[in-house]
Amino acid sequence: MNITMTPAARLSGEISVPGDKSISHRAIMLGAISRGVTRVKGFPANQDCMSTIKAFEQMGIDIRSGNGEVLVHGKGLRGLSAPSGAIDAGNSGTTARLLSGILAGQGFESIVDGDASLRKRPMRRVIEPLSMMGAEITARDGGFLPLHISGGKLRGIEYTLPVASAQVKSAILLALLYADGPGTIHQPVASRDHTELMLKQFGCNIDVSQHSITLTPVPELYGQDITVPGDISSAAFFITAALLVPGSYIRITNVGINPTRTGILDVYRRMGASIGIENVRNTEAEPVADIIVYSSNLKGTVIEGYDIPRLIDEIPVIALAATQAKGTTVIRDAKELKVKESDRIKTVVEMLKGFGADITATDDGMVIKGPANLNGCMAASTMDHRIAMTAAVAGLVARGETVIVGAEWADISFPGYFEEINKLRS
Ligand code: S3P
Repeated sequence: MNITMTPAARLSGEISVPGDKSISHRAIMLGAISRGVTRVKGFPANQDCMSTIKAFEQMGIDIRSGNGEVLVHGKGLRGLSAPSGAIDAGNSGTTARLLSGILAGQGFESIVDGDASLRKRPMRRVIEPLSMMGAEITARDGGFLPLHISGGKLRGIEYTLPVASAQVKSAILLALLYADGPGTIHQPVASRDHTELMLKQFGCNIDVSQHSITLTPVPELYGQDITVPGDISSAAFFITAALLVPGSYIRITNVGINPTRTGILDVYRRMGASIGIENVRNTEAEPVADIIVYSSNLKGTVIEGYDIPRLIDEIPVIALAATQAKGTTVIRDAKELKVKESDRIKTVVEMLKGFGADITATDDGMVIKGPANLNGCMAASTMDHRIAMTAAVAGLVARGETVIVGAEWADISFPGYFEEINKLRS
């Protein structure tokens, strides 16, 4: 599907964004393996989260939606039944990797598969620690989906994460729920901590320090109420649009501001952005707030080190912001971009070059010189939701028309995105 974007004179208004994808996957997973009902408010109806729901339905979990809520009727830690046929994680890396951790602890065999993009993404990073714990896992070409998992009888391990990946950390934590004793994960660089926070909420014995997490298995987890905050990774597109379109002022209500996710706000402020945070409050386990954005003159910056896991999914749209900033922006330490839904070093650079940006790929990031005059173009989503959504924001600030080819990929995280962004025109 193609969508045409035209320049925006000004953006204004108040909007909300769909519930946080990372938190929502975890809510379904922990709900399914807990005793009792887990009620999830603000669950987003995107394709990735639906992949997680379908996976657990396939293993006998009753999951009902209605009135903006999802009810998960958990069957306890040992209540899943063997799925008939392969589980299809679709495009969702979080589904495939976190689910592998749970499946490693089951006494039945299972197969996890995914779409063409997910089949290209590395799984060795979860296979290695889960095998050390005692699971038997075979993968295509040693490290790619489909995975055949034969689980049960796991032991606790001490493991140092070779990459700052919340998906790998979470897969191990979920497997540790089934281990014969405690396990410890060391993380050189902290990544998003939604799993740790939610496990605590569900009654798990988990001890978190700055660089290590120790989980001691408990007999059962118990169903909880979860209010999912708006997804800051979706808000990122509106934040950037309002910063870049002159004269804009918007409020995005009810956005998750967990500090492991707010790198984009810190980096934009460093670049000179006028961004306010109001109505800070807590859901059961996560902080939320309203984010207020005024259009701003930006300047270049260096984005590196601990910044990177705190904004990894926002780099495509931050790169667009950098094309409009005065001076040079350098993004480094971001090799992980190469193994996202597309090779995002390549796809971001090619897409923004198409608009006329001065941007160069490096081995672990990119270098962007601004400000550049962008011109509307045909921008391919490259089957990556965040590339399609970034191109739409570029279309608001570029001269002339922009056609987003493969715009339907936005549905992976945000169905209705293009309508929402156009509602802000004023
Ligand atoms: C996620 C972790 C990140 C992120 C992904 C969601 C999660 O991936 O890019 O979109 O929910 O744990 P990695 O763990 O591979 O860095």
